[in-house]
Amino acid sequence: MSGSSPIQAETLTDTPTSLDSPPFAAMFKASEIVNAAAAIAEAECIEQLKKTDAVPLLMNWLLGQESIVCSDPTTVAAKLRKMVVGGAGKTVVISDFDYTLSRFANGSGERLSTTHGVFDDNVMRLKPELGQKFVDLKNKYYPIEFCPKLTMEEKIPHMEKWWGTSHSLIVNEKFSKHTIQDFVRQSRIVFKDGAEDFIQSLDAHNIPLVIFSAGIGNIIEYFLEQKLGAIPRNTHFISNMILFDEDEKACAFSEPLIHTFCKNSSVIQKEAPFFHEINGRVNVILLGDSMGDIHMDVGVERDGPTLKVGYYNGSLDDTAALQHYKEVYDIVLIHDPTLNVAQKIVDVINSIH
Ligand code: TMP
Ligand code: MG
Repeated sequence: MSGSSPIQAETLTDTPTSLDSPPFAAMFKASEIVNAAAAIAEAECIEQLKKTDAVPLLMNWLLGQESIVCSDPTTVAAKLRKMVVGGAGKTVVISDFDYTLSRFANGSGERLSTTHGVFDDNVMRLKPELGQKFVDLKNKYYPIEFCPKLTMEEKIPHMEKWWGTSHSLIVNEKFSKHTIQDFVRQSRIVFKDGAEDFIQSLDAHNIPLVIFSAGIGNIIEYFLEQKLGAIPRNTHFISNMILFDEDEKACAFSEPLIHTFCKNSSVIQKEAPFFHEINGRVNVILLGDSMGDIHMDVGVERDGPTLKVGYYNGSLDDTAALQHYKEVYDIVLIHDPTLNVAQKIVDVINSIH
């Protein structure tokens, strides 16, 4: 696929036509040559793919795991084949953060923290009265977020109230950037097993990672800086950002507000600097844990497949909820504390290029 680089196209179009110009440059448009090169490269990849059994092996592995549900293996295999032919250069990963890249529960089954939850824990320690307000909000609204009896339309006003109240508490308290970084250091946010390697391997293969979170983007940034040393070049955020005043005290939140059920094109600002980087990335690996995560890819204009991988953290007795996940996600991972499946998918995509 390297023959299809835009640099080649530019060089050909920008070369002034002279009597010495090679005849092929006069006869063909640069774009035609590039398209032809891309078609040849794609045909080569398809040949390569036929020779390897990378996709069937991954499918066999997925289908052999008790805690992985793949309702339509034919479709999943077809999406994987397209993604492998496209390679890393055509791939983008769009991932939720809370309980997707981060763990839902520890080894003893205790619930771990979301990015907003960082305030519940730390503020409870320092100012129990205010801490209790964050906890009360969570106890009231979390069951509504996951209530199977309410429609999304019915849930949205509650989510707006939850996020709005929580953000007001943060801004009114004027937490400093330094304090929040300290909260993150002492938080119960834990990476899923393999998450660090997954993020680094995406960076190493120049696959953009867009973290699309209804949590708090600054907290994710501080967490990644603390765990990885720095934010990898390939990693970008669509999230709620705390804005700080000149004294580095929280003074507002970014607009538009992103809650669980508006993670779609309505909140994506396409002028974001990273958008040029994902332009042309037609194949999407989508990672999420809630029903609100399944449309995170709609802001990306393209005609390639989205492979939707969903973490199911709910009860196994809730068969209706589990069934719903099986219908909307291509691959459902039940109580999976790892990034193994996503890593295997990326490894297969990288395998023949
Ligand atoms: P996300 O996983 O889609 O990014 O959603 C963020 C999660 O954060 C969502 O499940 C609700 C949760 N949350 C809290 O735990 N505390 C809060 O104060 C708010 C506003 C959200
Ligand atoms: Mg989540």
